[in-house]
Amino acid sequence: MPAPVRKAVFPVAGLGTRFLPATKAIPKEMLTLVDKPLIQYAFEEAAAAGIEEFIFVTGRGKQAMEDHFDLAFELKATLEARGKTAELGQILDFLPDPGSIKYVRQTAALGLGHAIWCARDMIGDEPFAIISPDDLVLSETPCIKQLIDAHAETGGNVVAVEDVPREQTNRYGILDTPNAADRLARIDGLVEKPDPKDAPSTLSIIGRYVLDGEVFEHLARHEKGAGGEIQLTDAMAKLIGHQPFHGLRFEGERFDCGTKTGWLAANIAYSLARPDLAEATRETLARFR
Ligand code: UTP
Repeated sequence: MPAPVRKAVFPVAGLGTRFLPATKAIPKEMLTLVDKPLIQYAFEEAAAAGIEEFIFVTGRGKQAMEDHFDLAFELKATLEARGKTAELGQILDFLPDPGSIKYVRQTAALGLGHAIWCARDMIGDEPFAIISPDDLVLSETPCIKQLIDAHAETGGNVVAVEDVPREQTNRYGILDTPNAADRLARIDGLVEKPDPKDAPSTLSIIGRYVLDGEVFEHLARHEKGAGGEIQLTDAMAKLIGHQPFHGLRFEGERFDCGTKTGWLAANIAYSLARPDLAEATRETLARFR
């Protein structure tokens, strides 16, 4: 029986250059999706999956996130004085237990692998989850819970995967697998952003992982990969062969909210999924046909 997954890392120190100018002074992870910042969806997904410790790898200009998960004392007092009970719930209900969120700074955005390495002392050698808040998954069961359940079956490492058009393989980490069509694909190799003609499959990794703590030994070498960044994919690839490693075709639809069109599509999908907003959203969309 593998050790339980109790901790999740949220890499939130990236520069968000694909979403400029919106992300010049606002963290990408604080962009609003319907009525909540992206990071709140990621946090709630982890909490719903039973995660107990939430580790944010943050950086300069990202303080808004810390404030969002803190008690807004003046706002709380004002809403109480005005008897605004529903609004009070909206600022209080999602707050984590004191001490369950931890922050560490990356100091320089050297890549996702480097961001995860910055959390090493808070993780130790236990299995842990990673959630990229700019990847959102609209699903029945929280995506990270699906991974944690699969990890309880397989142990080792499990990453969330989905099919992408072959011409897009150069944007993603791609699996080399003998059983790409199965729900759980055994991973024999990983390639970061391969040229479409060299890609071993069209199964791409999205921003949800359950990894063994051993990955930190490989991240510690700080080897640069694609784009000159320290890539998580490269360190994960080194675990293959001596630990179980699987890609899970998750249930749900994934949106890349790090891009303008992905974020727009997510806003529409999440609005349509909300009983209080679905009808008005449909009416709005009809105006643009
Ligand atoms: P992205 O690959 O989307 O990079 O990171 P980015 O820098 O945020 O955005 P672009 O490409 O410039 O538009 C995926 C996740 O990893 C975090 C990001 O904050 C995001 O949540 N990240 C990325 C870090 O924490 N540190 C890094 O050095 C790179």
